[in-house]
Amino acid sequence: MTTAKRILVTSALPYANGPIHLGHLAGAYLPADIFVRFQRLKKRDIVFICGSDEHGVPITILADQQGVTPQVIVDRFHEMNKNAFTKAGISFDNYSRTSLPEHKALSQEFFLKLYEKGHLIEKSSLQFYSPKGQRFLPDRYVEGTCPNCGYDRARGDQCDKCGKWIDQTQLINPVSTIDRDTPVLKATKHWYMKLGDFQEMIEAWLDTKTDWKTNVLNYCRGWFKEGLRDRSVTRDLKWGVPVPIKGYEDKVLYVWFDAPIGYISSTREWAKKIGQPDRWKDYWLNKDTRLIHFIGKDNIVFHAIIWPAILMGHGDYVLPDSIPANEFLNLEGEKFSTSKNFAVWLDEYLEKFAPDPLRYTLAVNAPETKDADFSWKDFQARNNNELADILGNFINRGLTFINRNFNHQVPERGNLEAPDREILAKIHESRDTIARNLENFEVRKAVTEYMNLARLANKYFNDQEPWVNLKQNRAKCATTLNVCVQVSRALAVLGAPFIPFSSEKLWHILNLSGSVHQQNWDDVGKLEIPSGYQIGELQILFPKIEDEQIQPEIDKLQKILNRQKSGAISTSAPVVEKKESPVDDKISYDEFKKVELRVAQVLQVERIEGAKKLLKIQIDLGTEKRQIVAGLAEHFQPEELVGRKIVVVANLQPAILRGVESNGMLLAAESSDGKLSLVTVIDSTDNGAKIR
Ligand code: MF3
Ligand code: ZN
Repeated sequence: MTTAKRILVTSALPYANGPIHLGHLAGAYLPADIFVRFQRLKKRDIVFICGSDEHGVPITILADQQGVTPQVIVDRFHEMNKNAFTKAGISFDNYSRTSLPEHKALSQEFFLKLYEKGHLIEKSSLQFYSPKGQRFLPDRYVEGTCPNCGYDRARGDQCDKCGKWIDQTQLINPVSTIDRDTPVLKATKHWYMKLGDFQEMIEAWLDTKTDWKTNVLNYCRGWFKEGLRDRSVTRDLKWGVPVPIKGYEDKVLYVWFDAPIGYISSTREWAKKIGQPDRWKDYWLNKDTRLIHFIGKDNIVFHAIIWPAILMGHGDYVLPDSIPANEFLNLEGEKFSTSKNFAVWLDEYLEKFAPDPLRYTLAVNAPETKDADFSWKDFQARNNNELADILGNFINRGLTFINRNFNHQVPERGNLEAPDREILAKIHESRDTIARNLENFEVRKAVTEYMNLARLANKYFNDQEPWVNLKQNRAKCATTLNVCVQVSRALAVLGAPFIPFSSEKLWHILNLSGSVHQQNWDDVGKLEIPSGYQIGELQILFPKIEDEQIQPEIDKLQKILNRQKSGAISTSAPVVEKKESPVDDKISYDEFKKVELRVAQVLQVERIEGAKKLLKIQIDLGTEKRQIVAGLAEHFQPEELVGRKIVVVANLQPAILRGVESNGMLLAAESSDGKLSLVTVIDSTDNGAKIR
């Protein structure tokens, strides 16, 4: 099926409720990007689509925790993640967001279509409701003990321990994640998708997917065995796509109903942006399109069963051709954990290191058929021993030799001997092997083959000993170097999917015109750089990574692990609690009375130039307005703070911080992972109210 005219590649839309970490990158984004970059070099018609998944309970929960609107949360992480992807070289053609009106309209259109075609059914059921909060508690708003495995912090939609999808109401000892209130059951109405009607069709369709990964197929078979049941596609929530049906004004579509439709709305947005608003139809409404969804394994059921059912139910759209689902990446042998801050965040990584060594390391360790591991030591070794010592070294030795001894010009090629012919033939062989691997989504094999070519090239250079021949047999020396230049060109193009920035750099070092990303894969090994061609200045492609650079990263993770092992972080609590040392130094009430704590309202907040951590905050203390400086800039956006009622120490001596006067100090709590939360009081408290 590789001959299809068009390819549409998607990566799972990440929830805009947190930053991207390396586990995400390795699962759904990097493998997709490598595949797409390769297909572009093959000159295939391909579009690469993604965007932020901006609905769903994880987002509203975070917004509640931080006391801001969900919009503030999604705006923040949409921007952050979009930038991080760009810096990491993930070359989406479009990165949209599901909170856009066009997406909402399209999702509603889908819902109505299924409704009209009779694929939806309305049912009343009992759902968890919080008497205290006077609201329903869908999905992750409830947690409790898993009825399947007994894990005591199973979420209301899924158990993280055994992976089972749970019906909330089966949870044992359910509690609200908002305030630990015990929910009661209350009747509510929802629309359900009649998935059972599609089981036969989906099974038949999946039977044709003989080349799919067994993990995907086996997982689906498990579902078929249990029988596909009706699944609710609406929720009692305010944040999301409004249900376009009378009587449902205060309900929204289930996030997993609208999110995959985001693939389509993002493609539509892309078409508009390139000035061909109907272009998306060439992909989505054409059964010849290869639709490929790159995802992590936790998303299999949605992409392989529910989403195809939605598409079948609608009827007009192409079905997925492949769903490369990756296993998980671990970190230093442990699971990534966002809540414990046990992660390497992509944006933080990119502030300190270049993208290509990471891309290379994650490609070599791609979690394709089993869970894989990222460790900083391995990362350093991959960079230093492979990228620098093999690939970088080969380029460096050959080109330095030419610049010194052949005046920057590609030497004349004389008679080819067996070793010359072998390495030139190896270029073709590697090109085809890598292509075959990538067509099969085998990134690991592909990148390994790539490095093998560089390894052989290095060996070739050694064996030919051009430094000996320079004096004894200059023609032979010239031939060797000429061959090295051709191999270097090939390494630039063949490396472009994996290490796009370094490949482009190499392209310019070779003084070749245009961009390496515009080349034709099939010309690799055919197009040659002519003798006499002037090559450019050498630059180091892969600087070595020193122990001092990675040690702090290792220490940081180790500290979190140690705390966790010593029990300071409860392994199941959703919110990190830092156990401070027990309080034993007692003070008298008179001493406490000296500290004047008052309620203040934040009026205005700005950043301080040159001080990354500080914010300048204007506050209303009731009787007076004041300015304070606080180290919050890395934790909050200025606009999140405005209007909030905070607690300040009002009688602290003034201080000058970075040249800015501070008149008081605000109170905040620091969790063990370094996250800050402000001490606040309810909005109706008077400004200036004393705290005792
Ligand atoms: N936001 C989901 C996650 O991170 C993935 C959504 S994929 C889509 O697990 F298909 F729904 F878009
Ligand atoms: Zn479980």
